[in-house]
Amino acid sequence: MVHEVEMRAITKTFPGGIIADDRVDLTVNKGEIHALMGENGAGKSILMSILAGVYKPDSGVIKVSGKERKFSSPLDAIDAGIGMVFQSFKLFPSLIVAENVVFRAEPTKHGLLDTEAAVAKVAEIAKRYGLHVDPRAKVSDVPVGVLQRVEIIKALYRNAQVLILDEPTAVLTPQETKSLFEVLRTLKADGRTIILITHKLSEVMAVSDRVTVLRDGRNVAELITAESSPAEITRHMTGRDVDLTTPSPKNAPGKPVLEVNELTVPGLGKNAVNNVSFSVREGEIVGIAGVAGNGQVELAEAIMGMRPLSNGAVKIAGVDCTNQTIATRRDAGIAYIPEDRHGVGSAGTASATDNLALSHHRRTPLLQNGLLSRARMVEHAQRLIKQFGVKIASHETAVGTLSGGNLQKIVVARELANHTPLLIAEQPTRGVDIGSIESIHRELTEYRDNGGAILLISAELSEIMSLSSRILVMFEGEIVADLPSTEATEALLGMHMAGHKTVTDAERV
Ligand SMILES: Nc1ncnc2c1ncn2[C@@H]1O[C@H](COP(=O)(O)OP(=O)(O)OP(=O)(O)O)[C@@H](O)[C@H]1O
Ligand SMILES: [Mg+2]
Repeated sequence: MVHEVEMRAITKTFPGGIIADDRVDLTVNKGEIHALMGENGAGKSILMSILAGVYKPDSGVIKVSGKERKFSSPLDAIDAGIGMVFQSFKLFPSLIVAENVVFRAEPTKHGLLDTEAAVAKVAEIAKRYGLHVDPRAKVSDVPVGVLQRVEIIKALYRNAQVLILDEPTAVLTPQETKSLFEVLRTLKADGRTIILITHKLSEVMAVSDRVTVLRDGRNVAELITAESSPAEITRHMTGRDVDLTTPSPKNAPGKPVLEVNELTVPGLGKNAVNNVSFSVREGEIVGIAGVAGNGQVELAEAIMGMRPLSNGAVKIAGVDCTNQTIATRRDAGIAYIPEDRHGVGSAGTASATDNLALSHHRRTPLLQNGLLSRARMVEHAQRLIKQFGVKIASHETAVGTLSGGNLQKIVVARELANHTPLLIAEQPTRGVDIGSIESIHRELTEYRDNGGAILLISAELSEIMSLSSRILVMFEGEIVADLPSTEATEALLGMHMAGHKTVTDAERV
């Protein structure tokens, strides 16, 4: 049988002795949705970047529709019918959607870009596959879920027969995920082939036909989804069983550590956060649920002092920090895991040692007699790398080369190691593999049981429900519900997240 994609014995190494992929095989049938799974750093993204012509393998063979191919650039891969949607989108913000789609393959009229033809073409592809976009919208005005659709349309415009998606749902709301899967099924019905990288087992079970599992750059399993189970796939990925249930708090909550009073944060047009009050106490995890874009990020940034308030007050560990700098707030006792681990969370060209020292560098033990101790920084980095199972060549490696999930672990490790009374954790397990979710959840509950207060902001309802004692729901900048987690169900939270409207079964994911 001729496979649509056949990769044989693909090996890719990087300087420093890192073997990203070690003689990996991947076979994908025409018209199937094939899930590629594995722990952080297993070699998934690199393998797919090779198939998309971004990297050249050290050795190995690639066949597309039975024909051997050697790609020197992404353009070669596109010519062979391979399109990839990367995790970070590659679009021009100042151009409209249609101009981005046709970039470098423009329809022309009298030698000039024929914008009307481009708009018509984009509208046609969008309609055919249910990819709702406005071809005339400016890319900078378009939300992230729509940008992803633009990238898919761009690949289809170039006639991609094989579409690779690298963790597409990490940035999507449940509703958007559901409609992405509808699109994937339509593409499949049209005879296209999809390769999907995801860490979410529920998604793999819902949408894929077959699964290839990698571990440490090697093949460990090739399964038919319908004949497998989440537990079996997890065992292949991690070599063990994973239990994501978390223990309830050992102690009753103590005194308030974070007090937010009538907080209002201006936004574009209307307030991003509107008159919000709540507190988080010692030994308590308070979760904020909500559809992305309802003020959660602005709330966290305002508490951290990264965004101006128009009203309200913030107290951290009893200290009024309303008008204080970020540094003063950190000294008062706050740590922060930001949603944006690339921009805000880390410095890509700096080493793990330097990244892990950030926010620790003005205190003992890293500070010794007023000077930063390099030896202590290294010791600190090595300990955290080990504790959090970060897959990295050495503590001197630049974090920009880490896989997505491993970079996330660096940020989480650094912030937890502050042992501050208060932690703001935004999407702490986004892009993290299931085994590491278990260990990050364990670190968070230990932090709580040692008396720490955590404000948890997460798009994963299951994460919010398993970790939090109390759940607040944000909708359009306001807290529309405040309930103990014992009373929360996904359906109830979903209803509040939609702004009290009754959620119909069709809307539920
Ligand atoms: N440019 C690079 N230089 C050095 N090492 C690299 C580079 N790019 C990737 N690596 C390493 O290759 C390995 C595989 O990375 P890859 O991005 O494929 O992992 P992944 O399976 O996609 O993980 P994740 O689930 O975290 O995204 C990792 O150990 C990573 O650190
Ligand atoms: Mg990856």
